Amino acid sequence: MMMRMTWLISGINRRMMKLLVALALIAYIASVWGTYTNMRSIQEQGEIRIDQKIDEAVAPLREKIHDLELTVSQKYPPVKFLSEKDRKRILITGGAGFVGSHLTDKLMMDGHEVTVVDNFFTGRKRNVEHWIGHENFELINHDVVEPLYIEVDQIYHLASPASPQTTCITPSKH
Ligand SMILES: NC(=O)c1ccc[n+]([C@@H]2O[C@H](COP(=O)([O-])OP(=O)(O)OC[C@H]3O[C@@H](n4cnc5c(N)ncnc54)[C@H](O)[C@@H]3O)[C@@H](O)[C@H]2O)c1
Repeated sequence: MMMRMTWLISGINRRMMKLLVALALIAYIASVWGTYTNMRSIQEQGEIRIDQKIDEAVAPLREKIHDLELTVSQKYPPVKFLSEKDRKRILITGGAGFVGSHLTDKLMMDGHEVTVVDNFFTGRKRNVEHWIGHENFELINHDVVEPLYIEVDQIYHLASPASPQTTCITPSKH
């Protein structure tokens, strides 16, 4: 009888042990799964934060690129097409001045290649800025008192301080 009782108890204990081991295993798996899902959510949050930071850093660059695209696609005044034979390479000294800038407009719109040489003594870059970047146009900041070697077909020499006051200040440049 005693033997049977001991066997019964040890049988129950064995079952209990198995049950406890199974429960411990389940608890362990659950904790590992919890840690894994936690790490995943931390990682995802981190990725979202990194994405946000990248977006914040890239936003001003996007705006700059947009501005540059607008500059590149700048519209020039309409220019006639001239064949290679008819298109002349023309140098205008003082091309950023009053007379020179209007002559620049006329010759550019006629389809010629225009090089403006000016030291901006009385002229201003803004007088010809609407041509800057055009393939037929070149602006050189240069004082015509100094030599300049350039291959052209025609020269209009308008570089001159036009007003009487400047004539007195810089007589050598007339
Ligand atoms: N404006 C008029 O009504 C008129 C009339 C008849 C003749 N002109 C003559 O036309 C010429 C140009 O007159 P404007 O009214 O256009 O004068 P402007 O001052 O507007 O233009 C002269 C240009 O020459 C540039 N320049 C001056 N000295 C230079 C140098 N050493 N190197 C490079 N560039 C230089 C100036 O920066 C300016 O852009 C002058 O010789 C003037 O006497 C003008």
